Amino acid sequence: MMKRIIFATGNENKMKEIRMILGDLGVEILSMKEAGVDVDIVEDGASFEENAEIKARAVARVLTSDIVLADDSGLEIDYLDKAPGIYSARFAGEDTSYVIKNSILLDRMEGVPEEERTARFVCAVAAVFPDGTVDVVRKTIEGRVAYESAGENGFGYDPIFYVPEYGCTTAQMSPEQKNELSHRGKALRAMRDVLKEKLDGGLR
Ligand code: IMP
Repeated sequence: MMKRIIFATGNENKMKEIRMILGDLGVEILSMKEAGVDVDIVEDGASFEENAEIKARAVARVLTSDIVLADDSGLEIDYLDKAPGIYSARFAGEDTSYVIKNSILLDRMEGVPEEERTARFVCAVAAVFPDGTVDVVRKTIEGRVAYESAGENGFGYDPIFYVPEYGCTTAQMSPEQKNELSHRGKALRAMRDVLKEKLDGGLR
C-alpha cells in the first residue's frame, strides 16, 4: 500500500505551501483534518524542534502506518533574549491581534540601534516514520526588527520583519518570493530531500 504523508496542521495556508513543495514526491499528502484526526496537543517542548516532534508524535500515535509531519515556528529577537521565540503565537495573549503584538514589540525596541535589532524567523519540521524514528530539520531567515510596520502580505510578525538584502519586510514580498526565502520554505524543502531519500530507499 502506498504511504501517505499527514501534516499535523489545521492551517489551510500552510497546507497549500506544503502541497506545492512536497507535491512531486508522488505520495498522497493530507492535513490532519482530511485524515480524520482530531487530537489535542500540548506544545510543552523547550525548543522549536521539540515542539514539532511533540505535534508529529501525537498524530503518529493515531496514524501508525503513515508518515506524520509537523512544524513549529516563530520569531527570535536577539535584543529581547530571543523572545517571543517558541511563544510567538501566545505572545501578549493568543487572541491578541498582530497589530497589537507588533506594536508592543516595536515599543520594546524603541531607540535600539540598527545593529542590535537582529532577528530571525525559525522553522522546525519533524517527520515521524511508521517505525517510530524521527527526523527534524531547522531553518531560518535572518533579518532585523523594522522601525515601523510595513506591508500587507503574509501574516503574524511579517510587517515588522525587515530583510536588509531585499530592502523590505516579509509582508512587502509576494507569497512566491517569501516562500523562496522563508524559514518554512527552506525547512520544507530540506524535509522534502529527507523524505525523498527515505522513499527512494524503499519506504513506501
Ligand atoms: P506555529 O508554527 O503555527 O505554531 O506559529 C508560530 C507563530 O510564529 C505564528 O503564529 C506567528 O506568530 C509566528 N510566525 C511563524 N512564521 C511566521 C512568518 O512567516 N511570518 C510571520 N510570523 C510568523
